[in-house]
Amino acid sequence: MNSILNHTHSGLRWIALMLILWAIANAFTAKTYEKKHKMINLFALITMHTQLLIGLVQYFFTSSKTNFSAGWMKVELYRFFGMEHLLGMLIAIVLITMGYSKSKKAATDAEKFKKIKVFYLIGFILIVASIPWPFRTALGGSWF
Ligand code: HEM
Repeated sequence: MNSILNHTHSGLRWIALMLILWAIANAFTAKTYEKKHKMINLFALITMHTQLLIGLVQYFFTSSKTNFSAGWMKVELYRFFGMEHLLGMLIAIVLITMGYSKSKKAATDAEKFKKIKVFYLIGFILIVASIPWPFRTALGGSWF
């Protein structure tokens, strides 16, 4: 069960990263806010919320990388997945949700793009920093 969830969660990272980058690139280059821009912003948001749902199931039910027995904070693997990954991703998801909602409500096209620039960019940096990249060998992550 965790293997299916983990492959989905791991692969969706690339889609999330690409959609967020695409939304940011639009925000920096486009002049008029069109429906297609809103759709990219929305798909990025939906992908992040899907990651949240899958991640929470893994966190509470299926993953062997969360373990809250005595001294878990001293073990890099358990500290990363039990706290760092969760917190970093939760903050990123809140920022991206706020960015989407604020850009929807903003009055002008420039303001709409500005909300995406700020909130999605900070969210993106947090996500990249919170991913268990394979070169962090203690975390046992993979590329896909
Ligand atoms: C708060 C939301 C999230 C929670 C609770 C969560 C939880 C987890 C857990 C428990 C694992 C370990 C799975 C295992 O191997 O047993 C994991 C792995 C991973 N997560 Fe998350 N996650 C969240 C959000 C995200 C997001 C938003 C991304 C990327 C956009 C992401 C990317 C990854 C990656 C790449 C792995 C490693 C998968 C692998 O190497 O096979 N996570 N996550």
